[in-house]
Amino acid sequence: MSKLELKGIHHTFTGKKQQVPVLSDISLHVKEGEFVSIIGPSGSGKSTLFHIIGGLIAPSSGEVWLDGLSVTGSKGLISYMPQQSALFPWRSIEANVALAQEVAGVSRADALDKAREWLPKVGLGGYEHELPHVLSGGMQQRVSFLRALLSPQEVMCLDEPFGSLDALTRQAMQSWLLNIWEQNKRSILFVTHSIEEAIFLSDRIYVLSSKPAQVLEQFVVPFDRPRHEKVMTDPEFHELRQHIQGLLRQEILS
Ligand SMILES: Nc1ncnc2c1ncn2[C@@H]1O[C@H](COP(=O)(O)OP(=O)(O)OP(=O)(O)O)[C@@H](O)[C@H]1O
Ligand SMILES: [Mg+2]
Repeated sequence: MSKLELKGIHHTFTGKKQQVPVLSDISLHVKEGEFVSIIGPSGSGKSTLFHIIGGLIAPSSGEVWLDGLSVTGSKGLISYMPQQSALFPWRSIEANVALAQEVAGVSRADALDKAREWLPKVGLGGYEHELPHVLSGGMQQRVSFLRALLSPQEVMCLDEPFGSLDALTRQAMQSWLLNIWEQNKRSILFVTHSIEEAIFLSDRIYVLSSKPAQVLEQFVVPFDRPRHEKVMTDPEFHELRQHIQGLLRQEILS
């Protein structure tokens, strides 16, 4: 049984003048403890798919299953990091990190303790009592990431979590995430535009077409765990990267 499964998801947005079909028959799954990435052209509907998984919008048709039950339209069952950080401007950094745990039933004191323990691990020690506007975009992204990471649901959906980080910080966060994930193996669905990031982190990768998005192809990443940065120099890594790049280029140009 898959932890998370999407069955035949279609979605069309209804605008004032026109219908915009965005998702066209997306079926995919994430197994228990699996790290799965989604790559697709900009505007192909990845964030929309995450909004559907999180129950924020109802799909035109299709179903979301979690642990063998249909949960289509239900909120609060997954831990979710949105593409835009969405921090509460009036809450301190530590209170922002604690929020998702509190909503999930953890006591405020325990949630704050956890937030204070983890903030230094993402380079944000000393910012616990600041308000979000004091932080740079990349720092806010790390707060949002930590909020999702500490939220107790077993499936985590991350929408381009490292998108606004510089290359070195991004690499450090990837290795750090891999390390944490390899210790407790939650199920992760991860959206990224970086093919290298997807290969480095994932067990499997789904490549989506332009909108209306379909699954073009899925790949099993052939590298062992624990995984080290040196896989990036492996000829198989290079081959897989070229292949995915070719698929995406064809999509964008067609
Ligand atoms: N609420 C909405 N109403 C109407 N159209 C929408 C809405 N939200 C998204 N769209 C449209 O749906 C399409 C997919 O958007 P979405 O944000 O899911 O793409 P994405 O794959 O996440 O892109 P990116 O990689 O740039 O983040 C876009 O054409 C967008 O304009
Ligand atoms: Mg998006």
